[in-house]
Amino acid sequence: MAEPILAPSILASDHTRLAAEAQGVKAAGARWLHIDIMDGHFVPNLTFGPQTVADLRPKSDLFFDVHLMLDNPQDFIEPFVKAGADQVTIHVEPDYDIVATLRRIRDLGVKNGIVFNPSTPVEAVEPFLDQVDIVLAMTVQPGFGGQSFQDSVLEKTAQLDRWRAERGIDYRIEVDGGVNLENAPRCRQAGVDTFVAGTAFFKHPSRIEFRKTIESLPA
Ligand code: DX5
Ligand code: ZN
Repeated sequence: MAEPILAPSILASDHTRLAAEAQGVKAAGARWLHIDIMDGHFVPNLTFGPQTVADLRPKSDLFFDVHLMLDNPQDFIEPFVKAGADQVTIHVEPDYDIVATLRRIRDLGVKNGIVFNPSTPVEAVEPFLDQVDIVLAMTVQPGFGGQSFQDSVLEKTAQLDRWRAERGIDYRIEVDGGVNLENAPRCRQAGVDTFVAGTAFFKHPSRIEFRKTIESLPA
């Protein structure tokens, strides 16, 4: 199993000072920054556009993990890659050409990933497992930070972990939503190697300790 990585979610930070918040993530020793992009249609909320990512890019050398919660992600791949995304993940639920969009992300030179909601069966992402760098299992209904972690999703990450081993495919397994230091060990036991955390990370009294605890979880 791959080494655990924490991806703090900038959604939970002060949006009037995103560059400083990204620098705070770096100061905690994190290597990744999770950036949530919402369209007000696929999810009932709005966040950032490509310009936000482009403006952050020269101010941070973190790995930008850009999570598109859009009905039409295929229209926004180039803008977000040009803006500086290092990885772009797209949801399985909307109706668009997923295979072509995953390929387009890789053709543009960055990592790709497929995301599924808590109510979506894990089998929905199965056709794409040999075409992705990461599979993101939402552990809350996407749209807002600060919701409660849904433990039932861990059966799905465990299945993704079994498929990964049986088929010898090398995707990462990421969870996003309500992740904290209490549930992270259970995630790790269920095959997770990539941990998005918004509220729990930004509110923790020691972000360095938070990061170290996640990144030293045993396999
Ligand atoms: C939810 C977003 C998450 C969010 C997680 O729609 O995709 O990335 O930032 O926030 P917490 O950790 O507060 O649940
Ligand atoms: Zn997210």
